[in-house]
Amino acid sequence: MKEYYDRRAPEYDATTYELMQADPAAATDEAALTAFVESLPARVLDVGCGTGWLTRLLRGRVVGVDWSESMLAIAGTRRPDAVFVLAEVPPLPFPSDSFDRVFSSHVYSHVADEAVRKHFVAEAFRVARELVLVEQAPVPGRPAESWETRPLSDGSEHQVFKRYLTAAALADEIGGEIVLDSPTFVAARAER
Ligand SMILES: C[S@@+](CC[C@H](N)C(=O)[O-])C[C@H]1O[C@@H](n2cnc3c(N)ncnc32)[C@H](O)[C@@H]1O
Repeated sequence: MKEYYDRRAPEYDATTYELMQADPAAATDEAALTAFVESLPARVLDVGCGTGWLTRLLRGRVVGVDWSESMLAIAGTRRPDAVFVLAEVPPLPFPSDSFDRVFSSHVYSHVADEAVRKHFVAEAFRVARELVLVEQAPVPGRPAESWETRPLSDGSEHQVFKRYLTAAALADEIGGEIVLDSPTFVAARAER
């Protein structure tokens, strides 16, 4: 999946958030997600920050971590005051309690192994007291979890694991509460 994200970086925003902004039906959900992310002030670690589309909205002292150099290159231009770290997670390459909040969008749902998901959450609570996860809402007709075939504009195809969780299921899984529940995006927060 790393190669997929490396190659997808230049086209990522155009095929996700920008696509939603151009569609009146989807723009409301994109705007709700923007407002939600902007409301999160703290020392924040953005895990799997990607191109920094949402990282740019985070207030306070921001650190982003991602395993894709090409994603981080874009994120760095979008949020020049943030620190970006190249690493595969988990584990998180930071000392315990170095942040107030871990924010992570559209990463947890790509972790196929339950033990790794537990490690992901445990690491979040080691480095911060609060975890906020944003994910894509279930899509009618799509399996709740599967390996999806994802094409890129260069003609390549990639197998990407994806789970779709309701807001309630996401909140339950991390032992927290629902903080966003729109037709397109869900988010949950939990404290250790
Ligand atoms: C679907 S994108 C989401 C990007 C961004 N958070 C957003 O919401 O637009 C997933 C991101 O997580 C990164 N990623 C996936 N698995 C990772 C891992 N094990 N360690 C570090 N980064 C990872 C990918 O490189 C990619 O940038």
